[in-house]
Amino acid sequence: MCGITGYIGKNKNAISVVISGLEALEYRGYDSAGVAYTENNKLNIIKEQGKIVNLKKNIDFDIESNLAIGHTRWATHGEPNKINSHPHSQGKFTIVHNGIIENYLELKKELINAGYEFKSSTDTEVAASYMDFIYSKNNDILKTLNEVSKVFRGSYAFGIICNDDLNNLYALRKTSPLIIAKGENENYIASDVPAILKYTNKYILLDDFEIAKINSNEIKIYNQDLELIQKEILEFEGTFESSMKCGYEHFMLKEIHEEPTVFENTINAYLDDDFKNLPDLSKYDNIHIVACGSAYHTGLIGKYLIEKYAKIPVYVEVASEYRYKHNFYDKKTLVILVSQSGETADTLASLRKVKEDGIDTLSIVNVVGSSIARESKYVIYTKAGCEIAVATTKAYLSQVTIFAIITMYLTNNKSKEILDEINNIPSILENSVNIDYKEIANEIYKSKNIFFIGRGIDYALCMEGSLKLKEISYINSVAYQAGELKHGTISLIEKDTPVIAISTDDTLVEKTISNIKEVKARGAKVIFITSSDIDGDFYDYKINIKRTHELLQSIITIVPLQLIAYEVAKLNECDIDKPRNLAKSVTVE
Ligand code: M6R
Repeated sequence: MCGITGYIGKNKNAISVVISGLEALEYRGYDSAGVAYTENNKLNIIKEQGKIVNLKKNIDFDIESNLAIGHTRWATHGEPNKINSHPHSQGKFTIVHNGIIENYLELKKELINAGYEFKSSTDTEVAASYMDFIYSKNNDILKTLNEVSKVFRGSYAFGIICNDDLNNLYALRKTSPLIIAKGENENYIASDVPAILKYTNKYILLDDFEIAKINSNEIKIYNQDLELIQKEILEFEGTFESSMKCGYEHFMLKEIHEEPTVFENTINAYLDDDFKNLPDLSKYDNIHIVACGSAYHTGLIGKYLIEKYAKIPVYVEVASEYRYKHNFYDKKTLVILVSQSGETADTLASLRKVKEDGIDTLSIVNVVGSSIARESKYVIYTKAGCEIAVATTKAYLSQVTIFAIITMYLTNNKSKEILDEINNIPSILENSVNIDYKEIANEIYKSKNIFFIGRGIDYALCMEGSLKLKEISYINSVAYQAGELKHGTISLIEKDTPVIAISTDDTLVEKTISNIKEVKARGAKVIFITSSDIDGDFYDYKINIKRTHELLQSIITIVPLQLIAYEVAKLNECDIDKPRNLAKSVTVE
């Protein structure tokens, strides 16, 4: 996710302040960085692809500057290269931007007709040009920002400098986060509190459509009617680490709450304009999916969806096995490697082995520029942003989203039905992440064994639910195909053994209920997670999941499983973000 910083004041070097702010925002994930700063009443821009260290090499920190804006870019429109990185400048406006201007193509046409030329593929350069275009007519910065806020569709947080007023820094936002921070004879803007915490803990939350006009002594906030308004000055009372958690008790919970945005970002990156940014995947006869842990579980969902809808055979294997065995592939096989970190040793080794055999590889990776991403023939980046909790949640969700998109691509299905469902998912997720599962957690957190059962795609979800629970709560938990229990495992069921049963497939719900009744009859405490409206006395708790298209159903159904694991671990007072014996990136075999 992009990060924004800005500084105006005479006490400090503006360039150093914005760079250190960007460093504090690195957790958001990015692929390029840049700054714009004043020097002797002239504005300079420096930007670089890759990490902030690359940018710093090109900056002269001895330059005296009172005003600067900085940006870390997580590519959405156009490649992650220097030209597309921010700040973008057109005419008198230089801006940094977080968000997506949905109607930028429409505006670009209008601007080209008006004589504007564009260097980048970004929506941000269009936004800067549009500001300049409106300003050229009214010569009033506040009116310009107010007018563009009514024209731009989508989401945005802008840091803005206008050449005609280098005594002020401007900001404008809708949906994307932005704070204005208050110092002594100096002020700041930032995407998030960690960026300013080194200097001040006082800040103002800018609301949608509000405009900030900031100089070193004063912060003026204007509403949509351009009236000056008073805003509450908040004080952040935590540490740097707690500031990164944005008020959440744990990173895991914060990351679950980011899932609606992650879904939207992933969809926006690949679904539009005939599956833009996807490689040609239509030429393969069969697919192998190779990964570890949760990424392997998303592969199981991918297999289910691709086989059912695209009718292409898919073989899924954990990477630590795949790398050492004989695999049946040929030139018509595509091997898909899935990894959040892009550095998992077994997945990387599998990729190298497959490449040696001359087979095409595609990686689905979250960390930009990681080894797996760099070494595979094709890469699709999940748009989850930086994930800090060891237990993956939002990255898992974005991987499942990518498999839904790949299935749509392979079946050329962009029907109205599915697009409508996609549009509904963010708000469904928003509701889901706010549901309280403490009561259920309370019922099960003292158990020694917990079982997950389901059939078909729900079994793949059971595997992930079970892994999530055991890795952070240290309770033994096993996932079983619902029909398989009676072949041995059912002997472990005794009075009050928790069984979490998932059923989102109506064609199988009756069968799953029969299996639930088998465990219920032996005393199990059943938590029934379902999108069907069947009721009865075969469960103790029921969690209703909104019904959506099967391609998307798992994206919604995973949320209660993640939250139950979280609440159970919390009751057991476990180290939720850093469970014992585990690492975020498993770079050893
Ligand atoms: O970075 P990767 O996605 O390649 O990591 C794979 C697994 O180590 C990872 O999914 C692990 O299972 C998580 N701790 C699960 O929450």
